[in-house]
Amino acid sequence: MNEQTYLSSQAELDALCESALDAGRLLRAELGKRDAPLSEMLTKALTAMSLLGSGSLPSSYRHLPQAFHDFARASNAKSAATAQLAARALVASSFTHPRNMRAVNLPPSILPLYAREFRRILETIRDEGTTIALTEDRWRKNLSILVGRLIPVGAEFADVGSGLPRSTLMRGSFIQRLRVLRCVMTGARGFRPMLELHAHPDSLDDFNPNGWLASYKRLAEILAINPGYKGVIASSWFRDPALSQISPRLSYLREYPETHGALMVKVGTDKEGRSGALTRSPTRRSLFEQGRYIPAIYLMIWPRRTMLAWAGISGEAID
Ligand SMILES: CC(C)(COP(=O)(O)OP(=O)(O)OC[C@H]1O[C@@H](n2cnc3c(N)ncnc32)[C@H](O)[C@@H]1OP(=O)(O)O)[C@@H](O)C(=O)NCCC(=O)NCCS
Repeated sequence: MNEQTYLSSQAELDALCESALDAGRLLRAELGKRDAPLSEMLTKALTAMSLLGSGSLPSSYRHLPQAFHDFARASNAKSAATAQLAARALVASSFTHPRNMRAVNLPPSILPLYAREFRRILETIRDEGTTIALTEDRWRKNLSILVGRLIPVGAEFADVGSGLPRSTLMRGSFIQRLRVLRCVMTGARGFRPMLELHAHPDSLDDFNPNGWLASYKRLAEILAINPGYKGVIASSWFRDPALSQISPRLSYLREYPETHGALMVKVGTDKEGRSGALTRSPTRRSLFEQGRYIPAIYLMIWPRRTMLAWAGISGEAID
C-alpha cells in the first residue's frame, strides 16, 4: 500500500470516528433526558465493551459482557423508539480508532478496510429506516469490529481471541487425528491464540477469488507482526470437498489454502440445512431437498509456519 492511501485512510478514519462519537454524545444526552436508568446501564455496557479488544479475551466474539446483555434486555423492554435511540447511542459511542486498538499489531493494509467498515456502520445507523437488533449476530459482529475484537481482512473478519479446540484432536478417523496432531505440533506449535475467520452478511464485496487471495496476504502480515499467534482457523460448509461437484465455482475456497499448507478437517454435518449452505443457492437447496446433498462442515487450520512461507515471509518472523 502506498503512503498516500495510508494517509488518506488515516484521515478518513479520524473523520469517521469523530463524526460517530459526536453523534454518540448527542444520542446519549437525549437518552439521559428520556430514561436516566437506561442511560446509566449504557455507560456500564460501553465500559465493559471497550475492554473486549484487549486484556484477557473471552474465547469468541459472540461472548459479550453481562453489562451488554443487561442493557440490551432493558432497552428491549422499552418502547421501540427508546430502544432504537439506546441501540444507536451504544453503536455510535463504540467507534474506536484502530490506533487505539490494543489486541494485535495491525499492518497498514488493514486501515482502508477499517475505513470501509466504519463508513458502512455509520451509514447504517444514520439511516432511520434501519432497525438495530443488538442480539442479532450481524450487530454483535459490527460492535466487535468497532472495538477491535474482529479485524476486517477483506473477504471475512478475524476474531483475535480464538483458538483451536483441543477436542479437534479427538475427532474423525485415526489418520485425521494424526494429521491434526502433526499440524499443531510442527506447524502451529500450539492451540491458541489463533485468528478465526467469520463472514459478515453485510460485507461480502471481497468474497471472491481475488478478494480471498488479498485476505490471506493480510492475514500473513498480521501473523508476521504478532509472533504469539499460531495460525488461522475457520469452520464452514464452503470448504467441503463435495462442492467440487455441486458448486465448482466455490472450489477455490478449499483448494487454494490446501495447496499452500492448510489442513482441512471434517468437524460436522448440517443435517437441518442451517449452516448457510442453502441460503443463496437454488442448486444446493434443490439437491438438499432431494436428499442428494447434506452440507458438511470443514475446519481449516492454516498454521503460521506454512502461511508465512506461502506469503514469502521468512526468518525470525516465522517463529
Ligand atoms: C458464502 C457466500 C457469500 C458465497 O456466495 P457466492 O460466492 O455467490 O457463491 P454461491 O455458490 O453461494 O452462489 C449462490 C448463487 O449465486 C449465483 N452466483 C454466484 N456466483 C455466480 C457467478 N459467478 N455467475 C453467476 N451466478 C452466480 C448463483 O445463482 C448461485 O446459485 P447456484 O449455486 O444455484 O448456481 C453465500 O453463499 C452466502 O452468503 N451464504 C449465506 C451465508 C453463509 O453461508 N455465510 C458463511 C457462513 S460460514
